Amino acid sequence: MRISEKVAIITGAASGIGRTTAILFAKEGGKVIVADQNGVGGNETVDMIRSDGGQAIFERVNVTSATDIQNMVETTINTYGKLNILVNNAGIAIRLPVVDLPEEDWDRNIDVNLKSIYLSSKYAIPRMIENKGGSIVNIASIYGIVGGRIRAAYTASKGGVVNLTRSMALDYALHKIRVNCVCPGFVNTPLLKNILKTPEEYQALADLHPMGRLGDMLEIAQGILYLASDASSFVTGIALPIDGGYTAG
Ligand SMILES: NC(=O)c1ccc[n+]([C@@H]2O[C@H](COP(=O)([O-])OP(=O)(O)OC[C@H]3O[C@@H](n4cnc5c(N)ncnc54)[C@H](O)[C@@H]3O)[C@@H](O)[C@H]2O)c1
Repeated sequence: MRISEKVAIITGAASGIGRTTAILFAKEGGKVIVADQNGVGGNETVDMIRSDGGQAIFERVNVTSATDIQNMVETTINTYGKLNILVNNAGIAIRLPVVDLPEEDWDRNIDVNLKSIYLSSKYAIPRMIENKGGSIVNIASIYGIVGGRIRAAYTASKGGVVNLTRSMALDYALHKIRVNCVCPGFVNTPLLKNILKTPEEYQALADLHPMGRLGDMLEIAQGILYLASDASSFVTGIALPIDGGYTAG
C-alpha cells in the first residue's frame, strides 16, 4: 500500500483521469475526497471505491468558487482529521483560437484550469503545514510544455499550471510540502470518446505520439500516485510528461 492512511482530495474525480486516480488511491490505502460539480458521477466513483472495500466521500464543489473550496477543505478535516494529498485535476478544454474566442470562454477556461489551483492550494496548504507536510499534484498537459493549435485559452491555462507548480514548490519546500505536475498526452477518456467518432480519427491522434497510441487513464494515475506518495520524497517542482514521447521531439 503506497499511500496507506493518507487523506487525499482529488478534484474532478467524477470522471476520466480523476476517477481512475481516486480508485487507484483507495486501492493503495488512501482515504479519498471525491470533489466534483457532478453529483451523479461523483457518487458513482464513491460507490465504486466502497464496493471494493475502500474509503471515500463525495463533496460537491465548483472549483472556481472560493467558498466551495473552503468547504471542501473543512469537510476533509472534519471527516478524516487531516489532509496529506491534494490532486488538482478538474479541467475543461475550450477549443478556439483567440480571434474566435469569446472573453467569457477565455475567463472560464483560465478559472477552471488555473485559478482553481490557486484557490485550492491557498486553503489546503495551511492545513498541510499544521500536519508538517504534504504533496500537491497538479494536472497540466503536453500543452503546458508546447503550444497547440485551436486551444488558446487551454494552452495558456496549462502553461500557467506548470509555472504555478514551480513557484509553489519553491515557496513551501521548507514546510515539507512538495508540489509537482503531470503533463499527459492525449488520453483515452470518456471526454475523448465523445469527440472522436471514427477509427481514423483515433489513429490520426494516436500518430501524433511517437509511441503510436493514446495514453490509458491508469498510466496517468500511476504517475500521479508516484508524485503523491513518499516514493517521490526528494522530488518537487517538476513537470512530468506522460505522453508516449509527444514532447520529446
Ligand atoms: N483527456 C486527455 O487527453 C487529457 C490530456 C492532457 C490533460 N488532461 C487533463 O486531465 C484532467 C482531467 O481530464 P479528463 O480527460 O479526465 O476530463 P473529464 O471531462 O473526463 O473529467 C473532468 C472532470 O472535471 C469536472 N469539472 C469540470 N469543471 C469543474 C468545475 N468547475 N468544478 C468542479 N469540477 C469540474 C467534471 O465534472 C469532470 O468530472 C484535466 O485537467 C485535463 O485538462 C486530459
